[in-house]
Amino acid sequence: MFANDMETIKTIKAMRESVAAARRAGKKIGFVPTMGALHEGHASLVDAARASCGWVAVSIFVNPIQFAPTEDLASYPHPLEKDLELCRARGADVVFVPDVNEMYPPDRPRLTDVSIRELGDALCGRSRPGHFTGVCTVVAKLLNIVGPDKLFLGAKDYQQATILRRMILDLDYPVDAVVCPTVRESDGLAMSSRNAYLSAGERGQAPALHGSLLLAAEMIRKSRPPAEQVVAAMKEFITARAPAGKIDYIQICDSESLRDVPETRGLVLVALAVRFDKARLIDNIVVE
Ligand code: PAJ
Repeated sequence: MFANDMETIKTIKAMRESVAAARRAGKKIGFVPTMGALHEGHASLVDAARASCGWVAVSIFVNPIQFAPTEDLASYPHPLEKDLELCRARGADVVFVPDVNEMYPPDRPRLTDVSIRELGDALCGRSRPGHFTGVCTVVAKLLNIVGPDKLFLGAKDYQQATILRRMILDLDYPVDAVVCPTVRESDGLAMSSRNAYLSAGERGQAPALHGSLLLAAEMIRKSRPPAEQVVAAMKEFITARAPAGKIDYIQICDSESLRDVPETRGLVLVALAVRFDKARLIDNIVVE
């Protein structure tokens, strides 16, 4: 198939038909769910899907039910033409761009949610109650619409990937989840659609988030100090270098259960969220 053959589909019915045709042609189906405002982080997922699947679907849908009323749903960027261009350039076969009424018909209020215990309450779940229920519900719907063989997720949203992998196991979705590494700007800042909300001054300070994770990794690898010592050093680092940021959390957790651990032994996740004026940024590192 030529790169410019890419289809853009708006309805669930047409999407199911397109996937069914690809299946009949014997293609393995890769799926990359996104909320658009695509950057190289998203593109790396499309590349990974392209490398291992014969047919690649991307979805672009700003899912209202994963935003709290106080969050940035209304201002979330929608550069659709640019997004479609990136998908086409990276070799996607289909982009699914349903509008909100297609996913959540107004005449049929949704009575069903997919929610997850424990994993959804940790880390970002504390400051974004209900967020992961919104994520699980929409991804469950998308998996039912697309029916992919492989689902591509980014490690940048480590908790989200952990939760979705568990949902797939618990609900027996016949799909393999592939988690791809975080793509960063040259100064270390994790790429994010929300980086666009940063002022120039904040953008200058934001690489300190990644810097603090590297500091944590170095401390842990060197001497395995208690978690609270690592957290304290990270706080000091961020406060000094990114004074415009307000720390939402810095936590050291078991990389699977996402429970806080007092000791930095085994495989630990160091995760943080920092709030700037208009953007709440997250980042993480897993240290062996
Ligand atoms: P969105 O924030 O658009 O991210 C879509 C996918 O891209 C996620 O799997 C995310 O982890 C990945 N991603 C984002 N930034 C990345 C980076 N810098 N490097 C690597 N991967 C990156 O996450 C969502 O949308 C939504 O919650 C969604 C799963 C689509 C459900 O609505």
